[in-house]
Amino acid sequence: MSKGRRREGRGRHGATFSGGCCSSCDNLEAKEYVNVSTSTRKPSDSRRDFLKKGGAVAAGLYVAGAMGLPASAAKLEPLAINGGKKTVTIKPDTRWPRFTEEDAAEVGRLILKPNYAPIDKLEAAWKKHFGCPYAKAHFNGTSSLGASLFALDLPPGSEILVASYSTWFPLSPARLLGLVPRFVDIDPKTFNISVEDCKRRLTSKTRAIMPVHMWGLPCEMDHVNTFAKEHGLAVIEDASHVHGAKIQGIPTGNWGRVAGFSFQATKPLPAIEGGIAVFKNRLDYERATTFGHYKLPGTFPKDSPYRKYDKTAFGWKLRMHPASAILAMSQLKQLDENNRIINGQVRKVNDRITQLPGLSEPVCRPDMDRVYYWGNPLFLDEKKAGMTRAQVVRALKAEGVDASVFEWTLVHTFPFFREAKWWNHAPADPGELPGSKRANATAILLPKWNAEQPELCEQYAQAFEKVWAHRDKLGKA
Ligand SMILES: Cc1ncc(COP(=O)(O)O)c(C=O)c1O
Repeated sequence: MSKGRRREGRGRHGATFSGGCCSSCDNLEAKEYVNVSTSTRKPSDSRRDFLKKGGAVAAGLYVAGAMGLPASAAKLEPLAINGGKKTVTIKPDTRWPRFTEEDAAEVGRLILKPNYAPIDKLEAAWKKHFGCPYAKAHFNGTSSLGASLFALDLPPGSEILVASYSTWFPLSPARLLGLVPRFVDIDPKTFNISVEDCKRRLTSKTRAIMPVHMWGLPCEMDHVNTFAKEHGLAVIEDASHVHGAKIQGIPTGNWGRVAGFSFQATKPLPAIEGGIAVFKNRLDYERATTFGHYKLPGTFPKDSPYRKYDKTAFGWKLRMHPASAILAMSQLKQLDENNRIINGQVRKVNDRITQLPGLSEPVCRPDMDRVYYWGNPLFLDEKKAGMTRAQVVRALKAEGVDASVFEWTLVHTFPFFREAKWWNHAPADPGELPGSKRANATAILLPKWNAEQPELCEQYAQAFEKVWAHRDKLGKA
């Protein structure tokens, strides 16, 4: 995991990227990261060869130029966009999820002898790994979040504070429960919910807050919890992007009263499909479990108010497929190592490129250990960079960098949330959301890589340095 560093002001899908990723992606191999540039290097080329052939020298010159040092004597390599050589020639290893033959064999054994034991094993392993008292596996993240919302036992019409810059998944079950999203803004330096904006948007009907840890960066859960306590709000964490992250040493998912994780194929802990809900207290666990697990209320202690609902439960059936439990269990064992590798790759690139004027990464507090989901989003200050975002992305793409303008569709703008006819309690239009607007106006998305690829990281850093070395001209083009 990446230790947070305080560096204020420092820091997929080819073209402009809009919401619609995640579960709806049909290519499970994280197609969005595939860099189509074919390598011109022979497999035998070593890193040293590459550097000898000009990489290091050129990089030095890019840095000199980029840092404003006199590059006078130095002849800059022309940008690929102007006919120069592409900097990135290595094909990234984008394989994800990374299941093994042993995983396949275990799923095969399940098929020959069907049983549900893997679900119990996964829940026990989860509780041990994260030190949480109650966990219930579900067939996906949406159902685990829906069950968690049901656990809160909120009256119909209750509002849940949630950032519009997030996803619609947990909000559909909220609607079925008669709850209503109260859309709020984000902090444009983190992509995460703004507690300040929550304060402004509280109403007499607000009962809960749902922080979503976007792109693997934890929300400021200490601040969220303080605010929630002051106003008597329940905290439900959407931890679908953030498996294995921590705040002050405490895992994300353990901060709220309830939380839900997705195990969908692109997630940091993928099981192709699946999810888990976690709870701090027994009654929440029992109520949520009774929502979608008809056989389990009979196993609750005799004094449980939910025991009598055995057999029927409350009508939904949200049991995880045991094959998903096998895959999730295997991924849980690898989670920390996977996060370590992904973070290592991001650091190799970001530690270099965030030295360039105008380029920064989302602010991660020093007491947070973040992870990466989906990609490596950065922010561009066009004035400081002296180039527009479009110019930068175009030049980077030509260099072989899989960069894109990163614009996320705000949830409240979808027809489902705008048409009152679908809602018993329709969500209000939040109006202006300047933080979300700013994030959408400044973000650039780079891929993250799930395997060690130091040469590729080096080429990415060089591509940025090369583009920045030309920024005077590029910015005027
Ligand atoms: C933030 C967030 N919450 C919830 C979900 C829903 O998870 P699932 O696709 O497993 O139902 C997703 C899915 O991508 C998500 O991104």
